[in-house]
Amino acid sequence: MEALRGRFIVLGVTGSIAAYKSVELARRLTQAGATVQVVMSRSATEFVRPLTFQALTYRPVEVEMFQIQDERAAGHIAMGRQADVVVIAPATAHVLARLANGFSDDLIATTVLATDAPIVLAPAMETHMWQNAATRANVATLRERGARIVEPESGPLASGDIGPGRLASLERIEAAVVEALTASQALAGRRVVVTAGPTLEPIDPVRFVSNRSSGKMGYAIAAAAADAGAEVFLVSGPTALRAPAGTQLVPIETAEQLRDAVLGLLPNADAVVMAAAVADYRPIETRERKIKKRDAGKEMTLRLTENPDILKAIVAARRAGAIVVGFKAETGDATAEAGRMLREKKLDLVVANDVSDPGSAFGSDTDRVTFVSADGVEALPLLAKTEVARRLVAKLAERLAR
Ligand code: CTP
Repeated sequence: MEALRGRFIVLGVTGSIAAYKSVELARRLTQAGATVQVVMSRSATEFVRPLTFQALTYRPVEVEMFQIQDERAAGHIAMGRQADVVVIAPATAHVLARLANGFSDDLIATTVLATDAPIVLAPAMETHMWQNAATRANVATLRERGARIVEPESGPLASGDIGPGRLASLERIEAAVVEALTASQALAGRRVVVTAGPTLEPIDPVRFVSNRSSGKMGYAIAAAAADAGAEVFLVSGPTALRAPAGTQLVPIETAEQLRDAVLGLLPNADAVVMAAAVADYRPIETRERKIKKRDAGKEMTLRLTENPDILKAIVAARRAGAIVVGFKAETGDATAEAGRMLREKKLDLVVANDVSDPGSAFGSDTDRVTFVSADGVEALPLLAKTEVARRLVAKLAERLAR
């Protein structure tokens, strides 16, 4: 497979009987032209000898120590930094728990912590362990952080039981590795501007008009675009989130600041994703001094004026071929509204969601969205925002490649 040629793959092997299958995985990846660095946990070596991997990958195998020695620590970081992809197959319940909690007490965990490369996890374990609430939660956490999980298959297990827990087929694991590698370059050389969070429109020095946007969707899109190799500018209103690795944060507060920031970045942008919840109105005047109750009296009227339509300004000023994505949040038929918005604003794609759907509530980590474009209407199931972001980025890449 061409996608594997010349790539540096770290293959973590942990202590499950399925470790014997990863011998064949290591061989296949090596034969496809990848450099495969195998890292075995100590318990994995009870199932397969390191020499087996070494003979097939032509490289010395790293075996876990109980404690990472200081002088080796830099080397451990280096492996994560060098990797194009980190694959753990088989991944035991134990390693999933350790990764979900950010442990760094051995080489596999340290490599995963230190890497910016995509992570592919192929769990294998006994059915009850796989179905246990703790494992479910760990898998959900890892998936939410962007790891690709190659779900185990159902069948006879070493324990004698029949059920889910068998390591996925090598074809599926290899396909996930290829997908991870390809996705990680899908936007290489592209510049993407993502707006996120609310805008904040000041009334006076201490008060403002704003909305409930958490910024999670926009930040997830910025992270996914960076993972896909793009240069990412994240123009964001105030949120509680940290800018994802590999993105450049451009902090703004008001809609007018957001517009100016985006228009400034536009001449070099290949795509603009307007995930920000721009306040539609702002106070007509911002008082320079704090408004006092004694001046306002029993009632007060706040007069608002419409903010500039930023999408409209972007579409008018974008460079040829640049893609513009809008968001449409509705309490009701978001898809129909999105179609209208697509046409009227001449956008390339509108991401529609019904915010009255509990899965898509403000601040939630999940979203049920519909992509509306000239290609048609694509309703996605309820997904983690990180997964929605990944699919949106795949769409951007596909459109830019046309
Ligand atoms: N947007 C914008 N400029 C504004 C307001 C919103 O560019 N002044 C962008 C948002 O970033 C989002 C999309 O437009 O991508 C939302 O469109 P809009 O029609 O404002 O949606 P709603 O606020 O949901 O619409 P309405 O008030 O009509 O219900």
